[in-house]
Amino acid sequence: MQTLDSVEAARAWSRACRNAGESVALVPTMGNLHAGHLSLVTHAAQLARRVVVSIFVNPLQFGPQDDFVRYPRTPEQDDRLLRERGVDGLFVPTVADMYPAGLAETTRVEVPGLSDLLCGVHRPGHFVGVATVVVKLFNAVQPDLAVFGEKDFQQLLLIRKMATDLNIPTRIVGVPTVREADGLALSSRNRYLGAEERKLAPRLWSTLRAAAGRLESGDADFQGIEGEGLETLRSAGLRPDYFAVRHPETLARPGAQDCSFVVLAAAWLGTTRLIDNCRVRRKGAGR
Ligand code: PAF
Repeated sequence: MQTLDSVEAARAWSRACRNAGESVALVPTMGNLHAGHLSLVTHAAQLARRVVVSIFVNPLQFGPQDDFVRYPRTPEQDDRLLRERGVDGLFVPTVADMYPAGLAETTRVEVPGLSDLLCGVHRPGHFVGVATVVVKLFNAVQPDLAVFGEKDFQQLLLIRKMATDLNIPTRIVGVPTVREADGLALSSRNRYLGAEERKLAPRLWSTLRAAAGRLESGDADFQGIEGEGLETLRSAGLRPDYFAVRHPETLARPGAQDCSFVVLAAAWLGTTRLIDNCRVRRKGAGR
C-alpha cells in the first residue's frame, strides 16, 4: 500500500494508474475504521482495479459545538486494517494541503435543498463542509467511482446531486449499512457510548423498523408515524433531533400515492449523536 500524504502525491498516483489502464475507486473516510468502512473497501475492490482510501478528519464539516477535537483518530490501526485488505493507496492529506487558503477563506460548495433539512437543520454548515471536502478529494484523486455508506443517507443523496449538478464524472456508489447483532449501525461515534447508553442505542433501529412496518402494510398517516417514532425514542431515554418519513430520492415529504420511502432519524444519547435510516417499499407495490 502506498501512502499518499499530499494532493500532489494522490494526483500523481492516480495518473499513473490511469496511464496503466487501471480504474480507480475512492473510499472517502475520516478514519477510525470499522467493519462498515471495510465493507466499502470490499465493494470498491469489486468495482475497480485500484482502491484508494482517504482518511481526513475534515474540520470544515464540524460546527463549533461538534466533536472535531475528540473525534477518534487511530492511524496505526487504520493503516494495518487497510494493508490486510490489500488496499493500494492511502491518501492522508493535511489540513494545510486541503485548505491552502485557510478554512475561513476557502471556496465552498453548496447543494441547495438537500443541505437545509433533517441533519442540515441541526448541524448548520455541516453539508457545505462535506460537499466541499468531497469535491476536493475527487479533484485530488480523480476516481472513476467513489463509495459511500448508506448509513449517512442524506450525505449520499447530496453527493449524488452534487456530482450530477457539477458534471463530475465520478460514479457514486452507495453501500448498505453494516450493523451489530442487536441492530445498531456501526459508527465511529459508537465508542463514545457508555455501557447503559450502548444498551439503549439499538432502540433507534428498532423504532425505525417499527415505522417501516406500518408503511409496508399501507399506513399513509406519515405524521402519525413520525409522532409515534419521536415518542418511542423519548420514552426509551433518547433525545431525538428528528424522526422523518421521506421520499428516498429527494427527501421531500411523501404523498399518499407514494410506494417507496426512507425513514430517517437522529437522536442523542448523552453527548453522542446517532443517525440511522430504513428504506421501505409498500407491500404489493411494483418494482
Ligand atoms: O462520511 C464521512 O466519513 C465523511 O462525511 C466524508 C464523506 C469522508 C467527508 O469528510
